[in-house]
Amino acid sequence: MKSDPSVVSHFTTSVNRYSEHIPPQDEFSMAAFTSLADKQLKVLEIGCGTGHRLEGLATYYPGFVLYGFDITPAMIHTACKIRPKGIGFMIGDCLQIPFDKGFFDAVIIYDILHHLVGGDKKESDKLREAGFRELLRILAPLGLIVFEEVCVNRKWRSNLILWLSHALSKLHISIPVLNINTDVVVNFYTLDELKETINRLNLVIVECEVVNFKDLGRWISTFGSFEYHMRYVLKRG
Ligand SMILES: C[S@@+](CC[C@H](N)C(=O)[O-])C[C@H]1O[C@@H](n2cnc3c(N)ncnc32)[C@H](O)[C@@H]1O
Repeated sequence: MKSDPSVVSHFTTSVNRYSEHIPPQDEFSMAAFTSLADKQLKVLEIGCGTGHRLEGLATYYPGFVLYGFDITPAMIHTACKIRPKGIGFMIGDCLQIPFDKGFFDAVIIYDILHHLVGGDKKESDKLREAGFRELLRILAPLGLIVFEEVCVNRKWRSNLILWLSHALSKLHISIPVLNINTDVVVNFYTLDELKETINRLNLVIVECEVVNFKDLGRWISTFGSFEYHMRYVLKRG
């Protein structure tokens, strides 16, 4: 199983946005580790972009051994240049993470699974699930997952967004003002699907935060369904 190559070309063009406009501190992931601050945790961020979140963690948790992993070489090359030298950055696909079973004490994954898309909805859902399972494979039995995913509130909207982003990406049509970045195809969870997945994979919710983006562009691009960014700290049940 492999990820869609359009992801790499899409994110190669947005490296500057990630390196220059996103501050290093991410309150939610910082807070997830406060009770573990004195431990020497091995932490991997999957789809780390240019590593802003890892820079924040390196500052607050100097004892942690931090790794960042991303499929877009330009993201990783920039991360290596601008982030603290102790962070281990690697290029790779989250469907095949080159670490042994149970290697990490924590895995951070923000807004990656919706990029795992195949030819149709069924195949895309299968890839998204495979991404989730690969994350669980490299996580220690008592490990933590710090997770964010974009959700919409109706299945037909998720299906329509996938179909439309597939169709428009073939035509290379992109409407940034409406958040329609159709060079990249997206398969968003619905809230119900995500909750069902968490239950089925026997995960327990330690923390949950909902961030609701209420701007017109997002409302239009999700067909009248404001996006929810669901943030969770999860562990195995
Ligand atoms: C929406 S951005 C999120 C970046 C970062 N997680 C954040 O919160 O700012 C998606 C990132 O995931 C990476 N990505 C997409 N598909 C991936 C895959 N299959 N494996 C690893 N990284 C992937 C992209 O290259 C990009 O850097």
